Amino acid sequence: MIQRYLGNKNSIIESIITEVQKLCKPGDLICDIFSGTLSVSMALKRNGFSVVSNDINKFSYSFGVAYIKNNTIPHFDLKSLAIDEAKSSLGVDDILFNLKDKEGFSFLEEKKNYMAYKKLAVLLHYLNHVTTSELPRKHKNTFFFDTYTPDGKNSYYKSLRGTSGKRQFFTPENGKRIDLILNKISEWKHEGLLNEIQYSLLVSILAESLEKVSNTQGTFHDFPRGAYDSRALKRLFLRLPPFDEVISTKHKHIIGKERDSLEFIKEVPPHKLIYIDPPYNFRQYTSYYFMLNLICDYCEMASPKMYFNNVEFVRGQNLEKDFKSTFCQNHLFIPSLEQLIADAKTDFVIMSYFNGRNHSNNKIPMKDENGIDKITSLFKSKMFVKGSFKMKPIKRMNYQSFNGHKAQELNEYLFIAKKKK
Ligand SMILES: C[S@@+](CC[C@H](N)C(=O)[O-])C[C@H]1O[C@@H](n2cnc3c(N)ncnc32)[C@H](O)[C@@H]1O
Repeated sequence: MIQRYLGNKNSIIESIITEVQKLCKPGDLICDIFSGTLSVSMALKRNGFSVVSNDINKFSYSFGVAYIKNNTIPHFDLKSLAIDEAKSSLGVDDILFNLKDKEGFSFLEEKKNYMAYKKLAVLLHYLNHVTTSELPRKHKNTFFFDTYTPDGKNSYYKSLRGTSGKRQFFTPENGKRIDLILNKISEWKHEGLLNEIQYSLLVSILAESLEKVSNTQGTFHDFPRGAYDSRALKRLFLRLPPFDEVISTKHKHIIGKERDSLEFIKEVPPHKLIYIDPPYNFRQYTSYYFMLNLICDYCEMASPKMYFNNVEFVRGQNLEKDFKSTFCQNHLFIPSLEQLIADAKTDFVIMSYFNGRNHSNNKIPMKDENGIDKITSLFKSKMFVKGSFKMKPIKRMNYQSFNGHKAQELNEYLFIAKKKK
């Protein structure tokens, strides 16, 4: 899964699940309405709940289809994909053997699972070594190399401050590899050889693997100028995903596709609990993580050429699909939250709120002195059952420090209350 994500709940997931379990039982439907990396949705799934997951970011939808909605190891027909199985299998058994003891891979002990997963491993092995000669002419595109590496012909930028240079989100070598892998997936998709789960799984694996070698400090809003971060110098390799949790239940799950939560919530069926983890400041996630969304969108674009001809800003994003969330605007935050809760057909609400400062920016909307008071007033309002409100502080260290700031202790709060019928 994606690790470097603003507001990722991995580090406090146990506390969240403990609170959910006090109010709900396995099999209940729980809605994770700002699901991001899916850290909460995945934990809900592994604890036996049915999950509704939604986020405005496309990558969250692809991950959701591959790892939440999907409860199986997808079967890939390597022959129809024109993969020489004998050739691409070389060394794969050794790779799988080494994974067996790793967290998330105990499913490999069952022969049936092993055989199905081996097909995926062979396919990734093939993609890791695919060459230009294996792509038909119309899929020999080099958009990522051209736009996001310093050797590319479309990577020149001029910033609003007047500085200029060439984009370097990836090394030229990794830019080429992204193009090769994505164009091969695109070819298969256009030929109708991948179903939705298979396709979502492949682009999710690429997005996750690429994040590990991208030249960023965590978001794709910008890249370090001059030198590459040492992570970015590693070669891009598609990583095999753990599947224990994916196949852990047979429940039905629902995934929203890039929906504004304020609209999507109206369609979510009655559920036991809604978990709300809204943005905490002005940073628009569709801009900060556009690269992951782009990977998941590329094969479905009517014209990739048009997209890349019209990229803007230092980061090189086409703004056509950019989304301005009302939850990122100070004066709209509380009204949006109120609307979301009013429209949710839920028994309980748990909301995360965080009192730390992100990066070095002190002017953070919603986190003014009154932020906690405003949310407390909302949770004590007429929408909720009187006396049901609880506020739980969870201590954690903030390691997402920037500009030399040391890790600081901060409070992540859970606001919990029962909604009136
Ligand atoms: C704090 S993050 C959630 C992090 C997530 N719980 C995790 O562990 O990765 C907030 C999320 O809200 C999403 N978002 C912001 N405004 C939205 C809106 N109006 N509708 C749907 N999603 C939105 C962002 O894309 C982001 O993923």
